[in-house]
Amino acid sequence: MERRVEFIDTQACGSPPVAKLESMVTRRSIMMAGLVGATALPVRASSARAGDLSGQASRQPDVPGFVKELMAEMTLEEKLGQLTMVSANLAQTGPYSTPMTLDSVKLGRVGSLFNLWGAERIREVQRLAVEETRLRIPLFFGFDVLHGHRTIFPIPVAEACAFDPGVWKATARAAAEEAAGEGIDLTFAPMLDVTRDPRWGRTAEGPGEDAWLASRFARAKVHGFQSTDLANPDAVAATAKHLGAYGAVNAGREYAPVDISERQLREVYLPSFGAAAEAGVAAVMPAFTDLAGTPMSANAAILRDLVRGRWGFSGVIISDYRAIAELVSHGVAADLADAAALALAAGIDIDMMGEAYAKGLPVALGRGEVTLASIDLAVERVLALKAKLGLFDNPYRRCGKTDAAETAAGVGARRQLAREAARRSIVLLKNSDHVLPLRDGVGSIAVIGPLADAKGHMLGPWSAAGVSEEAVPILDGLREALPATTISLAQGCGIDEIEPASKARALEVAARGDIIVLCLGESKTMSGEAASRARPGLPTAQRELARAVVELGKPVVVLLFSGRPLILPNWLAERASAVLAMWFPGSEAGHAAGDVLSGRFNPTGRLSISWPFDVGQIPIFFGQRPSGRPASPTEHYTSKYIDLPVEPRFSFGHGLSYAEFALSRLRVDRSELRAGQSISVEADVANLGPVAGEETVLFFIHDPVATVARPLLELRGVQKIALAPGERGTLRFSLAAEDIRFLGPALEPKWEAGAIELYVGRSAARSGLLKTTIQFIA
Ligand code: NOJ
Repeated sequence: MERRVEFIDTQACGSPPVAKLESMVTRRSIMMAGLVGATALPVRASSARAGDLSGQASRQPDVPGFVKELMAEMTLEEKLGQLTMVSANLAQTGPYSTPMTLDSVKLGRVGSLFNLWGAERIREVQRLAVEETRLRIPLFFGFDVLHGHRTIFPIPVAEACAFDPGVWKATARAAAEEAAGEGIDLTFAPMLDVTRDPRWGRTAEGPGEDAWLASRFARAKVHGFQSTDLANPDAVAATAKHLGAYGAVNAGREYAPVDISERQLREVYLPSFGAAAEAGVAAVMPAFTDLAGTPMSANAAILRDLVRGRWGFSGVIISDYRAIAELVSHGVAADLADAAALALAAGIDIDMMGEAYAKGLPVALGRGEVTLASIDLAVERVLALKAKLGLFDNPYRRCGKTDAAETAAGVGARRQLAREAARRSIVLLKNSDHVLPLRDGVGSIAVIGPLADAKGHMLGPWSAAGVSEEAVPILDGLREALPATTISLAQGCGIDEIEPASKARALEVAARGDIIVLCLGESKTMSGEAASRARPGLPTAQRELARAVVELGKPVVVLLFSGRPLILPNWLAERASAVLAMWFPGSEAGHAAGDVLSGRFNPTGRLSISWPFDVGQIPIFFGQRPSGRPASPTEHYTSKYIDLPVEPRFSFGHGLSYAEFALSRLRVDRSELRAGQSISVEADVANLGPVAGEETVLFFIHDPVATVARPLLELRGVQKIALAPGERGTLRFSLAAEDIRFLGPALEPKWEAGAIELYVGRSAARSGLLKTTIQFIA
């Protein structure tokens, strides 16, 4: 039986909120988002000074009448309160922790809170806002629900390896249901930064190295979090972060400067944000970083002119944690007032933790650096968001468990989804001599390593309200999956602590096993924010343990836990029988590992990001432009290293299955394409192996002659097909003329007549690709 999974965008699933205006008495309103397409445009790096509202006024959301009336009653302090977001510190997600005081809520000096969850806790603080403040304006509550709230799904870079918008949307929906059940109105997710540098710790939070894939990820996540209407009690407003090009920080160092070409910005780093805006994302968060000297928190060219002006984004822009005040350290603002004026003029509505708006804007007003009108615009947007979230209607609408969250069936379903998402995120990197899958009852297994029985680490760096105790460790999952097999455990070392006695014991246990499962990698705090690593490999203690284990000469299956591609020692990659990228799999880590290792689930995961051989290859990604002197093993004067391959160790899209697939007969329904047309591209897939499996095929294009050199491969489609042993099927991709348009020399979108090469393959590794050529007729 053939099962075809179409890799389509999920736009159709999320219809825009329905306009519904009610009276001032109930203060109930839901505004139309009114978004237009994400158009490409030149982006000048510039910041804006006070009073310049171009691109803002025309894009205001429909502001309900009662908001206007409410604003007429507000003092300046109350207005600035609406623009102020503070941490309640139940979780710590930044360096500065100005304690949130209940008095400041009661005085109307706070418009939104974050790092607080739990229906009762939120109900209590909300009560102060709606019963004890002068104007009774509800608060909204934000939280970093990136890959699950209480039930934790795989980290985003892992989930991207599923290459499946259905999974991405489903996990966002489930996370939103749980978070909304605990009072959360808005999540600071999805993180849409394209990442091509594994040194950067935030690689863990993003969708990987490719802009096309990141855009599909963006849409699925926005629709999943927000559902069909932000006023739904289980809808959570999404925040597209961190705009833009944060992933391009210098040398992968956190918070470092970014200085890239405008072409790279627009071709690689902006499309995922444009896709989120098109999908109706409620909020945007600028990055901490600068872009060629203009910090994103003051970047009017991008926030105001592009996002609000050209993209027509009418939601709120929320600063990152203290980022407005940091404009002073960036060297573009003289003081807090100056910083606040810059950020406001750039289009930032909410100041997270900086006190820049509350303290700086009154001074800036006095100096004539800002106008009251520009403050009012920001307040209107914040109140409009609260209205869209249904908070004026019922401020406690997310303070009671939703039905789905309440029932045990709901919990069970989410755990099942977490297991499914995790096993679809695991990537089988190597499997020599068919050492996997493991057969139950055949021999004994020694499970070794600091991550073998490490519940807490399984959740990863942004685990929201996840509870370590509720995670399934690898050891338990393996024992459940292989009940007739003797499985022994020994840790062998700490994450980075050499423990001689523990190592000796681990070697004894390993020596008694027929197969060794070695669980290595990063602790959960070794990736995520402020966790850049100049050497993103295995810690020394683990390398030493692994070397000794490998020396035993037994079959070794290496499970690698990490928030980024890891640089592996060659001896480990070569001598291990099997290697799996586990990433941080979430609450159901052990079950997912048991499913994959036992063959109960035939692995389908494909790398969303290249794994380099060594740090010296970074940044490394498949979408490189050609060199005038392409690498050649026989020609000296070519673009290569004399000490390393040019290719990554594992390419984007790489991932093995226990089935064996063959791809053949790439064909097109016509050989010429014109504007407004599309071409159907087909290829056959056969399962030649002894087990059923699901194959993922990637579809790339390359424009070999253009006025601006095009990348060697550009991803344009992904299709999956499930095949029984011996079965064949056909995959169909569609190539529209739009898909080959590119930014010309003046960065204007254009078509050029000529040949377009089409490729299909399992990964971006050139050796396995099938090719055909069509002509574009201008
Ligand atoms: C700082 C992080 O950069 C951002 O991603 C996060 O949403 C905020 N802190 C709030 O926790």
